[in-house]
Amino acid sequence: MKLIRYSVLAAAAVTVIYLAPVRTAAQAPVLTPATGIPWAYPLNTPVTAAAPDPTILHVPNSKAGFTRAQVTDGFNPPDWHPEGHQAMPNIVSKGRAPDMRACGYCHLPNGQGRPENSSLAGLSAAYIEQQVNDWRDGLRTSSEPNMGPPLNMLNLSKASNVEEVKPAAEYFSKLTYKPWVRVVEATMVPKTKAVIGMWVPDGKEMEPIGMRIIETPEDLERTEVRDDTSGFVAYVPPGSVEKGKALAASKNTTTVQCSICHGADLKGKGDVPALAGRSPSYIARQMNDFKTGARHGKGAAGMKGVVAKLSNEDMLYISAYTASLKP
Ligand code: HEC
Ligand code: HEC
Repeated sequence: MKLIRYSVLAAAAVTVIYLAPVRTAAQAPVLTPATGIPWAYPLNTPVTAAAPDPTILHVPNSKAGFTRAQVTDGFNPPDWHPEGHQAMPNIVSKGRAPDMRACGYCHLPNGQGRPENSSLAGLSAAYIEQQVNDWRDGLRTSSEPNMGPPLNMLNLSKASNVEEVKPAAEYFSKLTYKPWVRVVEATMVPKTKAVIGMWVPDGKEMEPIGMRIIETPEDLERTEVRDDTSGFVAYVPPGSVEKGKALAASKNTTTVQCSICHGADLKGKGDVPALAGRSPSYIARQMNDFKTGARHGKGAAGMKGVVAKLSNEDMLYISAYTASLKP
């Protein structure tokens, strides 16, 4: 009798474990995209936390080894390739608990960044500081209130002070941004789902690209463990790069020639940021944020007229083009 009771209890416990993720998904509110380019603002699919795993993980060309828990420690993120960058200041490698995770956690130790955040390598120190100040002063937000990562950047900026951001700005400005995004024109793309602000493959099926850019890791596992030498592929609709090039050169009245301010080959000019070779998801997100007014810091005035007449398609084409340029 006793035995049977135990097995019934055990079965009940198992049922609860198996049902839990399903229930979470069913109860999670269905989020309606707040922008016309939802591909640039991935809204998370609910995921269940993985069980603790003591396995030591490795990536190519690195002697380091970290557990799954270590690679997700926002206050001591993994540095797989310390030889690939200068020594990090404390704010970049450790942050300041509890409110400011390390800059290097999200933007990676070498500043190459990820589609849900931004590359920082090679941007001017004054520009980096100004952006954090803008968030702190409420002059920069996101047009998509439900996308987690920009909200994280906003909250940590509010917790930051001017002095502690300076060494981070200095550090990232001295790094060189390297080719990181491979642009591929395609009609069919892997079916993806949004996980932590990024598109990741969802099974092996393919689906039509439609009017989207799908930027996804070249190697999901290496991206998940935050290997800062494993980049991304951006699938873009056929013909996008040429159309974007024409818009950027302003051979019509839709916008203003980008190179006037962003420099030759869009490699940046003074404190005006480079656009060449950077994440198209990030670049499109920013154009849209200037257009909606979510981003309206001092420097944003120059961008107002540039984006005013751009359609959602135009922003897609332009970001496909800028991503295709050599940094
Ligand atoms: C929790 C993740 C996270 C951390 C930690 C983080 N950032 Fe960010 N950061 C983001 C995201 C996400 C964005 C992109 C926001 C958007 O798309 O609107 C961003 C964007 C930026 C930008 C804008 C770049 C540009 O081209 O305009 C700067 C500058 C920046 N971060 C600096 C920092 C600094 C300095 C630190 C450390 C003090 C830091 N970030 C820490 C997530 C993070
Ligand atoms: C009149 C000068 C000017 C022109 C022309 C211009 N920009 Fe900009 N752009 C700026 C400035 C200044 C900033 C920095 C804004 C800030 O400080 O918030 C900027 C920022 C950006 C950003 C955000 C980058 C980042 O790192 O967050 C994007 C994307 C962008 N511009 C795209 C373009 C494109 C595409 C074109 C051409 C179609 C263009 N810009 C033309 C002045 C200009």
